[in-house]
Amino acid sequence: MESTFVMIKPDGVRRGLIGPIITRFEQKGFTLIAMQFMHLERSLAEQHYGEHKNKPFFNELVEYLTSGPVCAMVWEGRHAVANARSIIGKTNPVEASPGTIRGDYGMDITGNIVHGSDSPESAQHEISLFFHSAMSAPMFMEISDFGH
Ligand code: PPS
Repeated sequence: MESTFVMIKPDGVRRGLIGPIITRFEQKGFTLIAMQFMHLERSLAEQHYGEHKNKPFFNELVEYLTSGPVCAMVWEGRHAVANARSIIGKTNPVEASPGTIRGDYGMDITGNIVHGSDSPESAQHEISLFFHSAMSAPMFMEISDFGH
C-alpha cells in the first residue's frame, strides 16, 4: 500500500468542488487516511513549492495558494501516487483529458484545482509538512475566507 498527498487548491474549494473531487478518489478505490481544511501561511506555501522558487511563476503560485482555504488530504491505495496523478490529469488544464479532474473542472495552469504528489518520496515529504509540522495546526475558518 502507498500513500499520496492531495490538496484541493483555493479555486476548487471556492467553487464547491470538495465533494465531487473526494467522490472521484473514493470511486477510484482510494481510502481517505487524513484530511485537514486550512488557510496556508505564506511560509508553508513557499516550503511546499520550494523546488520552484527560481521559476518566474513562483510568486504568483504562492499568492494563489494563500488566497483562500485549501483541503489537504492523504489518500492510500495501490500505486497511490501514479493512480492519483492519472485521475487528476495533466498540470495544465488546457492539455488535461476530459474525464480527469483538471480536464473537467480547470481552465488555466494557475487555477488547476488540485495538487497531487509527483513521487512516493515527495508524498512522504508533503505529508510530513502538512500533517506533522507545527506550521500546519488546524484552524477554524471565517466565512469571509470563502469570498462570500
Ligand atoms: S515544472 O516547471 O515543469 O517543474 O513545473 P510543473 O511540475 O509543471 O508545475 C509545478 C507547479 O507549478 C505550477 N505552475 C504554474 N503556476 C503558475 N503559472 C505557471 N505558468 C505555472 N507553471 C506551473 C503548477 O500548477 C504546479 O503546481 P501543482 O500544485 O504541482 O499542480
